[in-house]
Amino acid sequence: MSEQNFGLYLREVHAVISVSEGDFALLKKHTDFFTSNLEGFVKHFYDTIYDNEGPREIFREGERPAVEDTLRKWVLSLVEGHDDDEFWKKQYLIGLAHIRREVPNRYMLTMASRSREFFLQAMVSELGADEGVRLFLAFQHVVDATVALTTTLVDEGRKKGLLQATGWTPPLMRNMLKTVYADIARKIEAA
Ligand code: HEM
Repeated sequence: MSEQNFGLYLREVHAVISVSEGDFALLKKHTDFFTSNLEGFVKHFYDTIYDNEGPREIFREGERPAVEDTLRKWVLSLVEGHDDDEFWKKQYLIGLAHIRREVPNRYMLTMASRSREFFLQAMVSELGADEGVRLFLAFQHVVDATVALTTTLVDEGRKKGLLQATGWTPPLMRNMLKTVYADIARKIEAA
């Protein structure tokens, strides 16, 4: 289940994305860069969401300032972070807020891509190509590992919810889903 598997997921993410304490040291060294670009980034992120119908519909009337603040705090938490369980557990748990609000993983992935692009441009233009790309890679490692863990908790939470709601065993659920997947594939191919 999701709680016990956190360690396994963290090891898997580390094995593929070479995130390390060195990345956090570089982010920390450039704290001024992140604080001076914070408002521009938060505006860019939420303008993108509110300009797009699907993502916009996730949010409640008047909620934008509060969710902007969670994003601001998240960026600042990266420059204070370390490559340890405490930091990664917090990233994993971001998934819970997103499950509650039914944020599809594709919105998380597309906004992570948009965020990387924003920072790559700002990093290269302000710090030059060498240091800009070095900082970008550190940032990318941390963001990609975060998104991998967050979307994993969303997947796990939904799977666990489905098992509890139906009372099915995992093998039974896998069999039922095989039929569902085959039906989806048929309909997409026929469309
Ligand atoms: C790189 C992508 C993203 C990151 C890093 C991120 C990060 C966060 C963080 C740190 C929180 C606060 C979690 C908490 O209080 O426990 C949060 C909350 C939230 N996020 Fe995201 N988020 C991302 C993408 C998105 C997208 C694409 C949407 C919707 C289209 C979204 C919708 C929300 C909502 C609605 C909340 C508030 C949940 C609540 O308190 O009820 N997020 N996000």
